Amino acid sequence: MPESFFILSKDYPEIARDEIISIAKMYDRFSKFKIISNLVILQSKTNWEKITKRATFVKVSGQILRKMSGLFLDEEHIDVLKSANTFVCRIINLSKNQFNIPELESSMGDMISKFSQAKVAFDNPDITVYLIFTDKENFFGFSKKIPKQVRPKKVRKHPHELDWKLTRAMINLAGLQEGETVCDPFCGTGTTLLEAESMGIHAIGVDFDKKMHEIAKENLNANGYKSKLIKEDFTEFKKIVGEFDGIVTDLPYGRASKSSEDPGKILKKFVANLPRKKKIAIMCKKDFEKKLKLNQVKRYEIYRHKSLTRTILIK
Ligand SMILES: C[S@@+](CC[C@H](N)C(=O)[O-])C[C@H]1O[C@@H](n2cnc3c(N)ncnc32)[C@H](O)[C@@H]1O
Repeated sequence: MPESFFILSKDYPEIARDEIISIAKMYDRFSKFKIISNLVILQSKTNWEKITKRATFVKVSGQILRKMSGLFLDEEHIDVLKSANTFVCRIINLSKNQFNIPELESSMGDMISKFSQAKVAFDNPDITVYLIFTDKENFFGFSKKIPKQVRPKKVRKHPHELDWKLTRAMINLAGLQEGETVCDPFCGTGTTLLEAESMGIHAIGVDFDKKMHEIAKENLNANGYKSKLIKEDFTEFKKIVGEFDGIVTDLPYGRASKSSEDPGKILKKFVANLPRKKKIAIMCKKDFEKKLKLNQVKRYEIYRHKSLTRTILIK
C-alpha cells in the first residue's frame, strides 16, 4: 500500500490532522494513519496529490519511498529522479536531535548527483527529495511540482465573513465529495459556495438579507460559478432537503452580522430542524451548543479574540 506524508501547518493542529484523515477516508475508507507531531503518515490507495489539492493546512506533502535507519541513499531509491531535470534536497527535523541541516542537505544532494543526471535547482525544482527525521523513525520521500491552485476570487467582502481556510476545512471535515451538493443556510457573502465550487462540489446558499444575497451573487459571478442562491429565511432549507448532501454553515452571532432573531434561538431552531443522515459542519459561538442535545458530534474550538471563541461541530 503506498505511503504518503503530510507536514501540517500549526495554525489549527487538530483540525489540520482530522482534515487529512477525513479526505483520505472519503476516497479510501481503509486508509491508515500514523501521527507524529505535525507529521501525518498515511497508508492509502489515494494519491498524496489528490489529498493535498483539497486540504487546507498542508505545508509540505509527498510520497514516502522508504523508512530509513541511516542516511545512505542508493540508486534503487532514486528511480524517481530518472525523468527529472532538476531536484533539491530538504531535511525536515521533527526529532529532538540537532543537525546541521544545510550541510546535510548539501551532502544528500552530492550523493544523489552521483546516480542522477538531474541538476540541483533551489527554485521550482521538478523533484524535491525529503528526509524526515522523527525520534522513532526516519522517512525518505519525494514530491513533484504540482501546479499552483487557482483560488476563487472574492470581489466583495464583509466584516462578518468567515475566512476561507476554516470554511474549506469544514467542508472537508464534513466529508463532502466532488459531485455532491452542500447547502449553506446562512451563506452571507458566499464563502462556503466559493470554496465548495472550487473543489468540484455543487452549492446552494440561503440568506434572508438582500444585501448579502447581492454580495454572494457578485462573488459567484466573478468566478463564473453556478451555485443556487435563495433569498429567504434559513428554514427554507427544509423544503429543499432532497437537493443536498450536507450542510456547512457559520451561524449569525448578532454582532457584525444581521440576525433575524436572537442567535441562541436561531441555533436551537436550526438544530431542531437539521436533517438526519446528512453531513453536517456548523460553526457557532462557543457554548451555544451546550444547550442542545447533539449526539456523536466532534467539537473544535477556535479562539478569535477575548470575547469570542467559536466552536465547530461536525456530525
Ligand atoms: C456569520 S454570517 C455568515 C457569514 C458567511 N459564512 C460568510 O463567509 O460570509 C451569518 C449570516 O446569517 C444571515 N442570517 C441571519 N439570520 C438569518 C435567517 N433567519 N435566515 C437566513 N439568514 C440569516 C445573516 O444575514 C448573515 O449573512
